[in-house]
Amino acid sequence: MKKLFSLLMMVVVAQASAQMEGEVLSTTEKMQWFKDAKLGIFVHWGLYAVNGIDESWSFYNGYISHENYLKQTKGFTAKNYDPERWAKLIRESGAKYSVITSKHHDGFALWDTKYGGFNAVTNSAAKKDVLSPFVKALRKQGLKVGIYYSLPDWSYDDYTNFTRDSIRYKISEEPKRWQNFLKVYQGQLKELSKKYSPDLYWFDGDWEHNAEEWEATKVKRMLLAQNPNAILNSRFRGQGDYETPEQGMPITRPQSPYWELCMTMNNSWGYQKNDHDYKTTDQIIGIFADVIGNGGNLLLDIGPKGDGTLPEEQVEILKGLGEWTQKHKEAIYGTIAGIPQEHFYGPSTLSKNRKMLYLFVKGDANGEVVLRGLKNNINRIWVVGEGTKLAHQVVGKVYWSQYPGIKYIKLPKHVLDKHMTVLAVLLDGTVDLYREDGSVIESN
Ligand code: GLC
Repeated sequence: MKKLFSLLMMVVVAQASAQMEGEVLSTTEKMQWFKDAKLGIFVHWGLYAVNGIDESWSFYNGYISHENYLKQTKGFTAKNYDPERWAKLIRESGAKYSVITSKHHDGFALWDTKYGGFNAVTNSAAKKDVLSPFVKALRKQGLKVGIYYSLPDWSYDDYTNFTRDSIRYKISEEPKRWQNFLKVYQGQLKELSKKYSPDLYWFDGDWEHNAEEWEATKVKRMLLAQNPNAILNSRFRGQGDYETPEQGMPITRPQSPYWELCMTMNNSWGYQKNDHDYKTTDQIIGIFADVIGNGGNLLLDIGPKGDGTLPEEQVEILKGLGEWTQKHKEAIYGTIAGIPQEHFYGPSTLSKNRKMLYLFVKGDANGEVVLRGLKNNINRIWVVGEGTKLAHQVVGKVYWSQYPGIKYIKLPKHVLDKHMTVLAVLLDGTVDLYREDGSVIESN
């Protein structure tokens, strides 16, 4: 008995220490926090915020010379940078993670890197590492940390591509130069992984070289050696864990179980003082509901100014989103994709045990929400975050067929949310949908 007990203890201790040392999780396990998180905030912060021009692309595409683009270093002061406030606002928006541009395609690194020679400490008016305080503040707020990293570095002398019509060299002609660059970029990634041990790496720009040229598998191995459960996005030549559609909300449900729509609030990733074309909070909530209804995450972008101030419009959106996500949290976090649109003309989510159905209703639905082909009986319906119990009526059910009829849920005006009302529908079992063609009456 004693022996058995000490054997058991050994197993328990071994398990606990495996967890402490960062046990390697299965894909499903390692992706779970991401799957449950639903909302992340993307931060594009770099030189481009100073003039308010396109991030990196403005010189790559020739709208400004490289020389003049670099002059923005003088305006990148970070004078009003308040990482604690950023992180707090991000948490209050309802986001569970944030992804920040540690280095965009222009090569300007936000941290005190030993590699590449172009960073916020030595090459900007800020004269300091502006990445570490943000990472620290995110962790303090209990948020997961994502690091965006551009593989291309268009400013670096030993990188192949410079602008759209000027390439510095071809790897086949100057392999040594490429080797130099590999050391720089891999050195930077090693620094990032050691310094921050990010929960997620958000690569970008992989299209300029193939997997062998980037040495992608080797780099992935290096990153996972530091944190075996780190998540990688799809933009690293086949090394990624999840898909990253950009700007366009997928119309049909993506095949991949793991995906994240990254989207700007206006039309720019970085701060552009001339871009006032903001989506409304209402529209963003609608898009967010579509995303989670299809099993994805939304990575919503903000672009702080060169002095670190957050644009007022963006703060307003984060706050508005926060009010709504807080009220409707049970229908958002930890849920899974909802039922097909034929059954309900709007976004929906399901609890993991598939017994709770959440319906997202825009506007007043003319007093009635329609659910088609739901075979379950409904035990109870209420308004999420508001509590009112709702009545429903079943119409058109016929006893000689499996066809369950149409369920009409009465939705009075006084319970409506100003953006999007969410109804919780407690089913009598796991969701069961009628997917057959209507049958013909054979006996009556
Ligand atoms: C694109 C752009 C880049 C932007 C990114 C965000 O890949 O190259 O400028 O940062 O999308 O998703």
